[in-house]
Amino acid sequence: LEMESYKHFLAVLSAAAAFGIVSIIFVLRWVLHYREGLAWDGGLGEFNWHPVLQISGFIFLNGAAIIVFRLPWTWRCSKLIMKFIHAGLNLAAFICATISFVAVFDFHNAAQIPNMYSLHSWLGLAALVLFCLQIVLSVIIYLMPFSPASWRAAFMPLHVFFGRSLFGSVIAVALMGITEKLIFGLSNPKYKDSPPEAVFVNVMGVLLVAYGVAILWISTRTSWKRPNDLALHTQHTSGGGEDNIKVGSSLSQLSDEAEAEGHVDVRRRGHKLDDQAD
Ligand code: HEM
Repeated sequence: LEMESYKHFLAVLSAAAAFGIVSIIFVLRWVLHYREGLAWDGGLGEFNWHPVLQISGFIFLNGAAIIVFRLPWTWRCSKLIMKFIHAGLNLAAFICATISFVAVFDFHNAAQIPNMYSLHSWLGLAALVLFCLQIVLSVIIYLMPFSPASWRAAFMPLHVFFGRSLFGSVIAVALMGITEKLIFGLSNPKYKDSPPEAVFVNVMGVLLVAYGVAILWISTRTSWKRPNDLALHTQHTSGGGEDNIKVGSSLSQLSDEAEAEGHVDVRRRGHKLDDQAD
């Protein structure tokens, strides 16, 4: 990565980290200061785990997982270790989201509020189910030793596209939830009278959008991609033949989809690679 590009990367990464961390501080202040705090008793304190775990768990951890391969100081680590970190962060996000669902269903049942009536709840449940499917399929395809390189390459564009789409959708679902909760929860003064809580929580919504945009920006810059192991290898060994250098540099310029195919191609040429098609 060139110095200029590295600086840009660090600037956007710092912005993303700041938006994400400040969002978590905001949701904690919302439930602890403006609302009823946190508890597990079927009451509003239990409901409050719902936004806290969605923002700090589902949104923040999924965003971190999305950009983890792009951190230049990890490019020396093996691809397999990085895949475990990526999968681990996404699994942690999924566990938080699941506990958050239990909290809100439990609260609804205890208070005899119907389940699954809102657009927020429909899209939220759909996002969780698809996220689970994405995790299961990806673990089979990218972490099981028996899965062939051709599957890994073929599935990669879908994995990337649905990963980004789900991340964006979960943020949209959170914005709906925030708006609902302000309308339900504020009376005297009402939401329309802009009490401090409403302004505070609306700002949190803006921060969530900013976090999402920063993460998606980082994740869509081709020049900030982790160089594949072959390119690294040719860059850092003295004895790589001309052929190697050509393959290495042209590979690193390819886009997601083409790149995955490129890996398969390279494998067929008989280069020794571990785990390239992903
Ligand atoms: C339910 C708020 C994030 C999934 C609810 C309800 C509120 C709410 C007020 C009860 C009313 C209703 O059923 O629509 C929030 C807030 C969030 C947030 C303030 C973020 C700050 C999310 C996210 C998801 C989600 C990110 C999923 C990706 C659900 C589901 C229900 C629900 C499935 C239905 C529970 C039931 O029917 O018993 N949320 N939500 N929420 N939320 Fe959220």
